[in-house]
Amino acid sequence: MDLRHCVIPAAGLGTRFLPATKALPKELLPVLDRPVIQWAVEEAVAAGASEMVVVISEGKELIQQHFTAQPDLEALLDARGKMAELAAVRATDHLASFTWVRQEQPLGLGHAVLCTAEAIGDHPFLCMLPDDLSYGTVPVLRQLVDAHKEYGTPILALMRVPPDQISRYGCAAIAESHGRVHRLSAVVEKPDRREAPSDLAIMGRYVLTPDIFDALRDTAPGAGGEIQLTDGIGALIRNGAVHGVEFTGELLDVGTPAGWLATNAMLALQDPVLGTVLRAAMEVDNR
Ligand code: UTP
Repeated sequence: MDLRHCVIPAAGLGTRFLPATKALPKELLPVLDRPVIQWAVEEAVAAGASEMVVVISEGKELIQQHFTAQPDLEALLDARGKMAELAAVRATDHLASFTWVRQEQPLGLGHAVLCTAEAIGDHPFLCMLPDDLSYGTVPVLRQLVDAHKEYGTPILALMRVPPDQISRYGCAAIAESHGRVHRLSAVVEKPDRREAPSDLAIMGRYVLTPDIFDALRDTAPGAGGEIQLTDGIGALIRNGAVHGVEFTGELLDVGTPAGWLATNAMLALQDPVLGTVLRAAMEVDNR
């Protein structure tokens, strides 16, 4: 079993974060000291992946630069004795190997994944949306890899949500359950609350098998002309078993201003230095 590839779709427009994302890709917004995309790559590496296949669109080339060696910057930091900063910069050069894939038009998440077919070839692979950071003892992607080792099927990350929120997500219908692992009988993209088959939302972490590419090729575009990954996964379920894992820990939103702010605050409060700074800044009486 070879799960060395991780697909990271990063070609979206980031409209929920405008105007910050007018020129800057949302994947480069910082969370504490590093950009969102670096948190994603670090999670993928912790799950055992070593080859990142990142889908970008025109105008998002700056993401590539973050993972490319910057010899002039490194020489300058070295000459000035800024060794901690130099180590931090060098660490990003050696995190993983990268293949950059272009999505020419924003035709949806399913289409973005389909663009990686050639880069992936005939292997199972990980896929993660960098809009959420994994928070908890065992990274979410790692939990999916562990389930894949046991079941050998595609694995989705599932999270229970309140009934009034399920219409924002893809929703999983369950055939049978073993503790926190569920075999799926169907997936429904953004169901009406009254028609949702469960309260289990599909989150942006996956182990996928290469038959997803044929499934996506056969998937008709849905609303807005977009090809939905959920529809491709529905085809996999009709052809064989697909499991979902109700993961432990949390996924923290960094794809909206409110989520990004809350995530930064929460992580900062756990850092001894930043926590002190943040608590002092929050003491409004001191102003
Ligand atoms: P989102 O639904 O979050 O869309 O995409 P978005 O464009 O990134 O952001 P908003 O909603 O406009 O603010 C989910 C994931 O799928 C990728 C995005 O980059 C994100 O990681 N995606 C989406 C693509 O790579 N291509 C697409 O055509 C659509």
